[in-house]
Amino acid sequence: MSTAKLSLNGQDYEFPTFTGSEGEVGIDIAKLRPESKAITFDPGYGNTGSCKSAITFINGEKGILRHRGYAIEDLANKSTFSEVSYLVIHGELPTPEQLSAFEAGIAEHSTLPAAISDMITRFPKTAHPMSVLSSMTAALPAVYDDYINEDSVDTNVMRMLGHVLAIATEFHKHTEGEAAVPFDSNLDYPGNFLNGMFGSADGGYTVNPIRQSALNKLLIVHADHEQNCSTSTVRMIGSGHASLFTSITGGISALWGPLHGGANQAVIEMLHDIQEDGGDSEKYMEMAKDKESGFRLMGFGHRVYKNFDPRATILKEACDEVLEDLGVSDPTLALAKNLERIALEDEYFVKRNLYPNVDFYSGIIYRAMGIPVDMFTVLFAIGRMPGWIAHWLEMREDGGRIHRPRQIYTGATHREFPR
Ligand code: SDX
Repeated sequence: MSTAKLSLNGQDYEFPTFTGSEGEVGIDIAKLRPESKAITFDPGYGNTGSCKSAITFINGEKGILRHRGYAIEDLANKSTFSEVSYLVIHGELPTPEQLSAFEAGIAEHSTLPAAISDMITRFPKTAHPMSVLSSMTAALPAVYDDYINEDSVDTNVMRMLGHVLAIATEFHKHTEGEAAVPFDSNLDYPGNFLNGMFGSADGGYTVNPIRQSALNKLLIVHADHEQNCSTSTVRMIGSGHASLFTSITGGISALWGPLHGGANQAVIEMLHDIQEDGGDSEKYMEMAKDKESGFRLMGFGHRVYKNFDPRATILKEACDEVLEDLGVSDPTLALAKNLERIALEDEYFVKRNLYPNVDFYSGIIYRAMGIPVDMFTVLFAIGRMPGWIAHWLEMREDGGRIHRPRQIYTGATHREFPR
């Protein structure tokens, strides 16, 4: 067995290492503190593995993303979101029978409990949909007595996949003062989202196949992404043996941050602001390099990808296709491409490996499809749902310990209480 050696205060320590299926090397430091009393220190966990996982592999240097061994390019261009969701959750591509049963299960669990639908209508129409989604997900244990039962896990997985779409579309209909649109088993998952958003409870809406195909691709490229902020949060909460619904609520909340899933909304708002200010790309790229400016180029950069984000490449291509097919001319696309062009030639961005990430182009497609900007991160959550579920299940199956990082204390040492 290979080992890693550490020398600390004149004492040598040796720790076992192990290698993953893609050649990644992990140093097992489980005995570091018991033997040396020291801990590692890695703010942001850039060099720290929290688990072993067989769901997704990313090679950030080469721009590789695979789910259960399948390349994201193949999945995005040849598969469906339901099939990818099954793959991510169960580990293998489904047979036609398995896929049919999976889709029937989602349909069966796409009707919200009356209490949830009622609560959705109590929110102000100006509420941010991410707040509604996290609130209603948090409320699911209140309406399902079996939320924590071991033998209800499979049912709760299907409930989560069905309910996330229903909560999102029912709230959107509430904001429009319209009745919710029930799930239609004749439509696929993306088709039901579009029907739920733009259709009518009385029927008669025809899902545009271009939008349906674009949304299928968008959901697939969001399906999972290793131990990102929100997925790690799901694992953190689940490590305390909290229910699937409770763990997913944490993931939704973590995703909302503009440095994470909230970036897709922030990108569109940034592009709009640049446009409103005259569209001077060079000016804003200079501001992005000036830390004092307080301006950050949203949709750029990534902790793991030190080359292009393959999802951004897929979505950039889809942008051109979808906008042309929909006959939508969006000046922000040209602005986005110009910002990317400047960044790829600018030493500041090149030196820091700052490339467009998944959020840079996704909002342009969502907007072309008529989706409100404050729903963009909800769509990220819908896409990421299979990944969150898969990691929660994997963590339970692995039987890991509760997550409890250490710290280095830097506060006041002991002092007598003054009274
Ligand atoms: C997602 O982890 C995942 O997998 C996430 C995700 C997923 O699928 O789950 O891929 C989804 O969250 C994508 C990222 C969406 N966020 C944004 O687009 C927000 C803008 N990007 C950044 O805030 C930033 O790049 C992060 C948050 C994405 C990554 O942050 P890191 O890894 O902590 O990088 P950093 O902030 O330490 O930056 C390193 C350097 C710094 O400069 P120096 O101190 O070295 O001089 O790069 C600079 C930063 O100032 N930098 C940027 C920048 N991003 C980093 N400068 C200008 N504009 C940016 N966008």
